[in-house]
Amino acid sequence: MPLVTFNEILPQARKEKRAVAAFNVANLETLLAVFKAAEEEKSPVIIQVYQRLFNDERAALIGAMTRKLVEKSDIPVVLHLDHGSSANLVKKAIAAGYTSVMIDGSQLSFADNIAMTSEAVKIAHGSNVSIEAEIGHVPFGGGEIELSTASEALEFVAKTGVDALAISIGTAHGFYKKEPVLDIERASKIGKAVNIPIVLHGGTGVPDEQLKKAIECGVAKINIATELQNMFLRGVASELEKNGEKFIPLDLYFKPVEEKITQYARAKIRAFNTK
Ligand code: 13P
Repeated sequence: MPLVTFNEILPQARKEKRAVAAFNVANLETLLAVFKAAEEEKSPVIIQVYQRLFNDERAALIGAMTRKLVEKSDIPVVLHLDHGSSANLVKKAIAAGYTSVMIDGSQLSFADNIAMTSEAVKIAHGSNVSIEAEIGHVPFGGGEIELSTASEALEFVAKTGVDALAISIGTAHGFYKKEPVLDIERASKIGKAVNIPIVLHGGTGVPDEQLKKAIECGVAKINIATELQNMFLRGVASELEKNGEKFIPLDLYFKPVEEKITQYARAKIRAFNTK
């Protein structure tokens, strides 16, 4: 089936109190592993790509590979730009065939975030592409967490018309130094204030039990990047260690690593689908 947008999968997921896993892939092997996991679980999935990969041909090539893969598949797959920082990037992703985008104005003032997001919403919706934006701030690399509020969520959604809203309730991008504790009460208030699908960034290292509580509040998309990509790198390192000086062609070298990632992605997909 053709690629879909958020609107074909996330509102339904929110209604049924489940979340769709969104994995950041960066090469053929991570894409194949995630796609296989979704097929095996017969579950929708979101393939997302960091904006950095749009600096060269990578994002477009991953897009083309994803399209080819889904052609003969029955599962709904969204191809999504993650953390787009400008309207130009949104346009670039749409031109590359992405069916969904994120515009990230979370480090701007609230008013500027609304202004930038509103412009991006017009562009995305003009091309039948779904769009996510973020309020509060989920930091990268040790920055400060800025928590989102229900009143901001309500105002932001009403003024911008986004299809999905990323909120900050205690997660951060990357590995945690100590286990995070999600602010579920805040998530619940936000979930009551807005009825669109809510997105949680920084899924790496958050215990599934906490994620399930967030899903109960309306979280319908959970992003995972670091743990999956690290698994690829560590997997290759351990294959090298195991095989010593022996040469093994690349495709064969990556096979066991892909399999490990598929099992990991399957477990996440399943956890987000069950209470
Ligand atoms: P992690 O790298 O912490 O899994 O976060 C992923 C993410 O939110 C991508 O936008």
